[in-house]
Amino acid sequence: MSNISLLRFPSVVRMGNQCISTFLSGDLEMIHARKIMLVTDPGIVKAGLAEIVQNVLEAKHIRYCLFSDVEQEPSIETVKTCIAYAKEEKCDTFIGLGGGSAMDVCKAVALCVADNVDIDSLFGMETIKRPGLHKVLIPTTSGSGSESSPSIVLSDHHNNTKKAIWSRYVLADIVYLDSDMTIGMPKSVTGGSGVDALCHAIEAYMATNSNFVTDNFALTALNQIGKHLREVYQNGKNREARLGMMGASFLAGMAFGGSGLGCVHALAYPFTTLFGYPHGNAQGMSMPNVLRFNKLGHEERFAQIARSLNLIDVSAMDAKDAAEAGIDAIEQLINDVGISTKLRDYPGITPDRFLEMGKIAIESNGRLVNTNPRPMTVEQAVKIYQQSY
Ligand SMILES: NC(=O)c1ccc[n+]([C@@H]2O[C@H](COP(=O)([O-])OP(=O)(O)OC[C@H]3O[C@@H](n4cnc5c(N)ncnc54)[C@H](O)[C@@H]3O)[C@@H](O)[C@H]2O)c1
Ligand SMILES: [Fe+2]
Repeated sequence: MSNISLLRFPSVVRMGNQCISTFLSGDLEMIHARKIMLVTDPGIVKAGLAEIVQNVLEAKHIRYCLFSDVEQEPSIETVKTCIAYAKEEKCDTFIGLGGGSAMDVCKAVALCVADNVDIDSLFGMETIKRPGLHKVLIPTTSGSGSESSPSIVLSDHHNNTKKAIWSRYVLADIVYLDSDMTIGMPKSVTGGSGVDALCHAIEAYMATNSNFVTDNFALTALNQIGKHLREVYQNGKNREARLGMMGASFLAGMAFGGSGLGCVHALAYPFTTLFGYPHGNAQGMSMPNVLRFNKLGHEERFAQIARSLNLIDVSAMDAKDAAEAGIDAIEQLINDVGISTKLRDYPGITPDRFLEMGKIAIESNGRLVNTNPRPMTVEQAVKIYQQSY
C-alpha cells in the first residue's frame, strides 16, 4: 500500500497576461456564480489589484461583496469573521486574490460556508466529506503555491503554532496565472515568497512520499527558480522572469501537494509563530542547515537539485561534492534576495529559546517531520538552530 500516491490538482487553469480581464466574467457565468465574495488583504487593495477584479465584475453587473481584512499569516479567527460575513451576504462563489494568506482564507471560508461546519473540525488530512462552494484563486505572489495545493495553513495563536487542512476539496475550481499581478510586488515579498517556492520544490523532491510525477513538477520548478529568482528580485518589471516564477510556484504547489514537505518548514514555523517573521523568510532562515542535515544518505538526490537549479556548474563533481556545493549555492541565493541565514541577525531569536523552538518544530508538526527524508529529534533540531545562530 505504501507506494500508492494521492495526487490532487486544481480543475481549470488559465495562464497568460490579461487572462483575468479576458476570461473571468465568462468563467463565473459558466459556474453559475450568483453572489461573489472577493477575499483579499489591505496591501492588495492599496496596490490597485483588487480594483482590476472589481472592474471586471462591475462591467458585467456581477453581484459581489469585498472582504479585505486578511492579515499576513492569517488566523483561525479571521476565517471565522469572514465566514459570518459570507453567510450574511449569501455568497456562493469565492475569489481569493493575493498571496498565500488571502488564498488560504478564501479556501477555508468556501468550505465552511458550504457545509455549515466549524473550521475547528476540519484540521487534519481528508476530513472533509463534501465539496465546498466554488473557489477561484488569483495569486499575486510567487509564491506559496496555495493556488495549486490541496492545503490551507492558518495561525493558531492560542498554541503558538500553525494548523493545516489537507483535502481534495480544498483545491481551486479555477486558477488565473497572470504574471502582471506580480509586477508591482515589493522586493521583500518577492524575495520571501520566492524562497518559499524554492523550499516547496526542494522539500517536495526530497519528501519520502515523492514519486516521478511530483519529481518532475519539482525539478522543473527548480529550473525556473534558478533562472529567474535573482532577476525578479533585482528587476521586478521583467515580465518573462515574473511568469517563470509564477509557473514555478504553481508547479511546486502541485509537487508538495502530492508528496509533502519536510523539516525546513517544521523548523521555520517557530520563527513565524513565536517571533512574527514572514513565512517565506522563515524558510530561508532554516533551509541551509536543515538541508545539510538531510543530505546524509541522499547525496545523489541533492546533486540532482543542484543540476536542476543550475546556479553553479556541478557537472565535473561527484554526487557528494555536487550536493554540498549545491546547498552552498542555495544559501547564497537566499542571501542575495535579502534574507540572512544567520539567526543572530533577527531580533528576538536568542539561544535560550532554542529548546522551546525545537519542541514546537518537531512535536507540533508530525505531518512535516514524517515526510522529511531523515528522521529528526528535538535535540537535533536544537543543534541545527545553534549551527545557524
Ligand atoms: N496553502 C498552502 O499550501 C500554503 C503554502 C505555503 C504558504 N502558505 C501560507 O501563505 C502565507 C504567505 O503567503 P505569501 O508569501 O504569498 O504572502 P502574503 O499573502 O502573506 O502577502 C504578504 C504581503 O505582500 C503583499 N502583496 C502580495 N502580493 C502583492 C503584490 N503583487 N503587490 C503588492 N503587494 C503584494 C500583501 O498585501 C501582504 O501584505 C502564509 O500564511 C503561509 O502559511 C500556504
Ligand atoms: Fe511554505
